[in-house]
Amino acid sequence: LPPHLSVKDRHLRIGGCDAVELAFKYGTPLYVTDEDRIRANFHGYKKALSSRYQNIRILYAAKANGNPSILKILAEEGAGADVFSSGELTIALQAGMKPEYLLFNGSSKTEADHRLAVEKGVRVSLDSIDELMQLDQIAGEAGKVVEVSFRVNPAIDVPTHPKIATGLATSKFGIPAATITEAYAQALVCKNVVPVGIHCHIGSQILSVEPFAKEAQVLMEVVAELHKMGVKFKFVDLGGGLGVCYEHYGGPAPAFDAYADAIMPEIISTFTRLGISPEIWIEPGRSMVCDSTILLTKVNSVKQAHKTFVNVDAGFNTLIRPAMYDSYHEVLVANRAGEEQAGTYTITGPICETGDILAHDRKLPAIQVGDLIALLDAGAYGYSMASQYNGRGRCAEVLVKGDKSALMRRAETVDDLLAAVVTPPWL
Ligand code: LLP
Repeated sequence: LPPHLSVKDRHLRIGGCDAVELAFKYGTPLYVTDEDRIRANFHGYKKALSSRYQNIRILYAAKANGNPSILKILAEEGAGADVFSSGELTIALQAGMKPEYLLFNGSSKTEADHRLAVEKGVRVSLDSIDELMQLDQIAGEAGKVVEVSFRVNPAIDVPTHPKIATGLATSKFGIPAATITEAYAQALVCKNVVPVGIHCHIGSQILSVEPFAKEAQVLMEVVAELHKMGVKFKFVDLGGGLGVCYEHYGGPAPAFDAYADAIMPEIISTFTRLGISPEIWIEPGRSMVCDSTILLTKVNSVKQAHKTFVNVDAGFNTLIRPAMYDSYHEVLVANRAGEEQAGTYTITGPICETGDILAHDRKLPAIQVGDLIALLDAGAYGYSMASQYNGRGRCAEVLVKGDKSALMRRAETVDDLLAAVVTPPWL
C-alpha cells in the first residue's frame, strides 16, 4: 500500500482516518481523498523538474478531478491549471489560481470561451486557424492583446489505450508538426494575438518515459524553427503527466526523476543553443491525484450465479473507467483488510447494464451483505466523469487531512436531479 493507506484492526485507513467510520459518517458511495498525498505528488514533480531547470510551472489538468478544494490545495502550492472549458476556467479562478498560471486548452472552443479567456486575461492554446481568427477578432473588440500557443500534433505512437492516445497522426488534436510554422506565421501578423508558447500532449496513462523523450525532441525541432521565424517563447508546454500503476504498488509506473531525465537534456540543450530560457510547463492530471483517493462502496447483496456477483452501491455512474477503458482498480474489503482470501468475486454496480462491472474475478476475503468495498486509485477521472444515469445523484466527496475529515462535496439528491428540469407549457 502507498504511505497514506494502512490497515489497523482489520480496517482500511486513509490518512489518519478509519475508512469504515468515514463510510458510516458520510454514507456511500463515497470518494475519500488524502490531502497530503496530493501535495506530495505535486512536490515529486516540482523537485524533479526544478532541480534540473529553474523556470518550471506545473499546470494541474483540472479534468482529472475538478473539485474546487483540490484546486485550492494545488493553488496554495503554486500550481496553475490546464483548463479545457469555461467551466473549468471559472472554477480554477474561484479556487484561487492565478490567471497567468492557467492555459485554456481545447479543440472546439466557442466564441464565449474565447471571450471569457480575454476578459480574465488567461492564455489560450489554439487548435486551429479558425480559432486564431476568432480569438484575434474578440480580443480586438475588447481592446486587448492575448498571448497564445498552438497545440502541435507530434504524430507519436504511444503505448496506451487507443481512446486516450492524443498525439497520433490520426488524432483530432493539434496542428500537424509539418504545417505548424504556417499557423505561427499567421499568428505573428495578427494584431491582437501574440504567440508566446507552444503546447503538445501525446496521451494519458503512458508507463514508459521514451514517448515523452521523443515528444521533447519533436517539440524542440519546432521551437528552433519558430525561434528563427521570430517567435519569442515565454513557455513550452509538454502536456500531461506520467501514467500510474493501478495493478500493484511499486510496479511499472516511472518515477518523477526518470521523467525529468527523459525530457530535460534535449530541452535544455536546445534552449542553450538558441539563447532562450522560457518556462517549461507540464500538465499532469492523473499522476497528481489518482492514488490520493479511494472509492468506498457498500455491499447490497452477494449472489451465487454464473459467478459470485457482489452487488455494490457504486456503478459506472460513479466510476466509469472499468466500463469505458476496461481499466483495472485494486479492490480491498475495507472492513476485512488482511483477512484470508476465501473466494473469487465480481464486483457489480446498480446500473441497468451488463457492462456495469467495477472489477472482474477478484480473490477476496469472504464477503457478506453490509461489507465495505474500497476501490483504490480512484482520484483521477473518477468523480469528474461520474453521471446521473439511472436517476442517481452523484455521490459525496470527502477530504482527509491527518485524522480530520470533511465533506468537499455533498451527495446529490433527487431534488438536484430535478433542479434543471423545465416543463414545456403544453404538458
Ligand atoms: N493536458 C491535456 C491537453 C490533456 O488532454 C490531458 C488528458 C492532460 C493534460 C492530463 O493528462 P494526464 O496527466 O492525466 O495523463 N479519462 C481517461 C483519461 C483522459 C485523458 C485526456 N487528456 C481515463 O480515465 O483514463
